[in-house]
Amino acid sequence: MTKTALVTGAACGIGRACALALADAGFDIALVDLREVEMAATARDIEARGVRTLTFQADVSDFARAHAVVDQIIATWRRLDVLLNNAGAPSPKPIIEISEAEFDRAISVNLKSCFNYIHAAAPIMLGQDTGGRIISISSINALSGGVTSAVSKHAYAAAKAGILGLTRSLAKELGPNVSVNAICPGIIATDLLRDLIGQREAELTAGIAMGRLGKPEDVASIVRYLAVEAHMFMTGQHFVVDGFQWSC
Ligand SMILES: NC(=O)c1ccc[n+]([C@@H]2O[C@H](COP(=O)([O-])OP(=O)(O)OC[C@H]3O[C@@H](n4cnc5c(N)ncnc54)[C@H](O)[C@@H]3O)[C@@H](O)[C@H]2O)c1
Repeated sequence: MTKTALVTGAACGIGRACALALADAGFDIALVDLREVEMAATARDIEARGVRTLTFQADVSDFARAHAVVDQIIATWRRLDVLLNNAGAPSPKPIIEISEAEFDRAISVNLKSCFNYIHAAAPIMLGQDTGGRIISISSINALSGGVTSAVSKHAYAAAKAGILGLTRSLAKELGPNVSVNAICPGIIATDLLRDLIGQREAELTAGIAMGRLGKPEDVASIVRYLAVEAHMFMTGQHFVVDGFQWSC
């Protein structure tokens, strides 16, 4: 029996690294992303590791589409073992400039997206003998309010903090057969932060105890660890992966 994982935002960055790490652990991978070309390239790299893929071009903020994606995975593979809610996007606007629509969009893409996919996946996982693993990518911003820029991150930080509440509450609701955890990355060198890193890399690195910026693989190794059955006794937690970012 091959286990299966659904990874949102799997085309690039952290999601791509996590999808590859789960493929290396033997999971078939369903990818969800807006970017079709990059997603197809990641799917090819996953299949080269000898596992199967399904790809879905979808906006994670769309509730009905999340259900359609999970329905299609179950129709094809009959099981869903791991859900990784990774897709997200920044919303760097001060409170006096942000519109209601921009705030709503930040919450939809970063927080409601997790609800959408958990709502679709939880009944499947609860009905499986082996349960399931749900992991959501929050951010160090959930704890700090935003550390890497002078630009306000209140909408993003609020959404990412919401993921931590969702995680703790659903760990109680979905246990004991389904574990629910979150990861709070610090500065990870991906497209999302390319502009910021380009201008301030030396300054940012100086404030990190490990002496370097994070790599997508630093997050992927924790995702792989949490996805493995032996670690089921850890649930309702958030794991900070930031190299101890103490002054930036
Ligand atoms: N890079 C960092 O330093 C960092 C730090 C903390 C948290 N995070 C979080 O990690 C996650 C991944 O970030 P990343 O750095 O890899 O970003 P990225 O921009 O490199 O990749 C994000 C992926 O998600 C996809 N995506 C974005 N919005 C989407 C939507 N509405 N529907 C479907 N797909 C969508 C993008 O197309 C892209 O493939 C995000 O949730 C981000 O908030 C990143």
